[in-house]
Amino acid sequence: MGKKHGIVVEGKAKLAVPKYGRKAVSSRMPVFYNPVMKSNRDITILLMEAAAKLYGIKKWAVADPMAATGIRGIRMVLELENKNIEGIKMNDYSDAAAALIKKNMRRNRIKTGGKISVTVNEANKFLLNNKPFNYIDIDPFGYPGLFLDTAVKRLRHNGILAVTATDTSALAGTAVAACRRKYLATPLRNGFMHETGIRILIRLAQLIGAMHEKALTPVFSYYKDHYIRAFLLCRTGSGRCDDVLSKHKEILYCDSCCEKKIGEGGINPCCSNCGKQMLKAGLLWAGNLFDRKLAVKMVLAAANPNRAKSSIGPRRLNGDVGNRYGDEKIKTFLKVVAEEAAGEGKCGAGFYAIEDVCEKHGIGQQPKTTQVIKRLQQKGYNASQTHCTTTGVKTNAPLKVFLAVVKGK
Ligand SMILES: C[S@@+](CC[C@H](N)C(=O)[O-])C[C@H]1O[C@@H](n2cnc3c(N)ncnc32)[C@H](O)[C@@H]1O
Ligand SMILES: [Zn+2]
Repeated sequence: MGKKHGIVVEGKAKLAVPKYGRKAVSSRMPVFYNPVMKSNRDITILLMEAAAKLYGIKKWAVADPMAATGIRGIRMVLELENKNIEGIKMNDYSDAAAALIKKNMRRNRIKTGGKISVTVNEANKFLLNNKPFNYIDIDPFGYPGLFLDTAVKRLRHNGILAVTATDTSALAGTAVAACRRKYLATPLRNGFMHETGIRILIRLAQLIGAMHEKALTPVFSYYKDHYIRAFLLCRTGSGRCDDVLSKHKEILYCDSCCEKKIGEGGINPCCSNCGKQMLKAGLLWAGNLFDRKLAVKMVLAAANPNRAKSSIGPRRLNGDVGNRYGDEKIKTFLKVVAEEAAGEGKCGAGFYAIEDVCEKHGIGQQPKTTQVIKRLQQKGYNASQTHCTTTGVKTNAPLKVFLAVVKGK
């Protein structure tokens, strides 16, 4: 191992990754490795385990077109059952990345060639050069849109497309023009801006899917740390695509009183609560973000004591690389998601941010989220946390009821 590399343990893998010391992780690293994205990779493995059972996927044919250190593909080899792997193709346009992937495979006693391969190519060319896959992971720096057409082209019926976007400034409404240009949608900077961002990303993938008559339905889509990620299940057929497109709507939001509703296009209406003109975001996916059954299976898989443990991982081995992102945090996160998933069909898109409601309505004392949820449930409404923020509440209660509850009535 050269002086430029440190060793990390993540899941069952032990990898050489570039040393980054106190410097911020950046795309200028010789080969990219972000320890914060351990959560992203943990969730990937859990999802693949759960999805195989739920959707009857017998063997995974995986494309990792932007593999960097190879951590994701290597973890799949080590952590998924071998009999469930048809093949894993790792690729990166960087020679240094491909060399490091091969080195990391040797370190983990994985043979190159055969089922597991490493190539150097531009991601779109790599995808087009290959036969279809049933799991494709698009994980670029920033905006993923430029890879979606080829990914969809190479995605099998009943396969999963995973897309990570780190350009959250566009998706969550800081860079409005960039979002319109790149995602063909208007974002909105408010308490539920990250949920809006998830829905905008999903719609873009679905539009591209529809061009290929592939209906992409989100089965697990979330915001965490600095990224937005969607897992989309692919089913071929024009009718299915039309169903998906029929759920592309707008979210209307009143900046004066926090009223929200789903819009069908047209001129911004006035708020039915306070009369001010509402703001709008979209078009976006207004359907469910999660498959509830999948979320529950993932919670159970994460709790399985036989799983690879990396509770202090990626673990520091030689004092130069490591972080604090552990398994317990993932378990908590998944439980919140499962709760959200159970009620989202009734609660719909968007949520109330308690701090915004307090601010706009001059409520001095902000109640605890758990208290608000409990009171809403006692009144007979659906209510749950949202994984996007600890102070958001997803509910089917109207604003007037929510306000009363926040005021302690
Ligand atoms: C964010 S990193 C991927 C991280 C990796 N998936 C992981 O989980 O650690 C992006 C990687 O994509 C590669 N890359 C960016 N654009 C590419 C392209 N057009 N074709 C192939 N590789 C690309 C970069 O060299 C970099 O290694
Ligand atoms: Zn209003």
